[in-house]
Amino acid sequence: MSGFDADWLAQREPFDLAARSRLLEQAFAAELVRNRPHAAIRLADLGGGTAANFRALAPQLGGDQQWLLLDHDEQLLADAPARIARWARARGWEARVAGQRCEVLTGAARWELSTRQIDLARSLESLEPGAFDGIVTTAFLDLVSLGWLERFARWLVGSGKPLLATLTVDGVRRWHPEAIDDDLIERAFLLHQGGDKGFGDSVGPGAAAALAQCLETLRCPVRLERSDWQIGAAEPAMLARMADEAVEVARQVAPDAQARIAGWRMTRAAQIDAAQASLLIGHIDLLAVPDR
Ligand SMILES: C[S@@+](CC[C@H](N)C(=O)[O-])C[C@H]1O[C@@H](n2cnc3c(N)ncnc32)[C@H](O)[C@@H]1O
Repeated sequence: MSGFDADWLAQREPFDLAARSRLLEQAFAAELVRNRPHAAIRLADLGGGTAANFRALAPQLGGDQQWLLLDHDEQLLADAPARIARWARARGWEARVAGQRCEVLTGAARWELSTRQIDLARSLESLEPGAFDGIVTTAFLDLVSLGWLERFARWLVGSGKPLLATLTVDGVRRWHPEAIDDDLIERAFLLHQGGDKGFGDSVGPGAAAALAQCLETLRCPVRLERSDWQIGAAEPAMLARMADEAVEVARQVAPDAQARIAGWRMTRAAQIDAAQASLLIGHIDLLAVPDR
């Protein structure tokens, strides 16, 4: 339904994990504990997909937690509890799945995850902020429009709940070594990132900066940190995927440049095969702490 297949989300997960800003995670955790020191922390994950955010954050936050995974993709939501259970058992923790819920018992903490199908483009305001202590989202904001970010900023500031929004792409794609027609591919990619992803024309790579501005206009303090993917020469599958994605986009955006695009892909394929290519993909993490 959304076009985000679970295999792709799994392939990107280790790069996300390595890239996330630990500083902002710690500041978010401190904020949650400061405001709810004794009971389980309740979190909403917007565009939660396969629950990658849960797997990354739950162990960092520590203590008892209750997560609500919000997404419009029924299939991703349906698979999430079993995926969490497999992940937890691989770490030696106990996990129980019951329908669309999963419970993880680590010995030191109890984490519950449940899911809700929702179209956040239409129904953001139907979420009751009082039901959560914090809001998280990862790899989601670049899909949305400026109008949606303005709505989201108003909803968040009205809620008084902290937000940790991780891994929003910022448009930086830096291959090493440079190659002829990097510029052509880069321009095509940037143009494509501004398309409509179900929320109206998306802000794409400007999303983290745009949300920061919307929040600051509402006098909500914001911190930004880089969370770039560093895809090294030892990661040929991910590099090839990134090159294929760039080519697919460039073919749509620059149909007159097919030969140049094919030449660029051949150059990159040879470098990837020879373990001579690497790629940085820019991302930004954002922490917002509105007044309560
Ligand atoms: C790039 S994926 C990120 C998924 C997950 N956060 C992760 O990091 O693995 C974007 C997610 O946003 C969800 N999404 C897209 N449009 C949505 C909408 N209108 N309402 C709710 N979720 C949406 C997709 O289904 C997908 O799971």
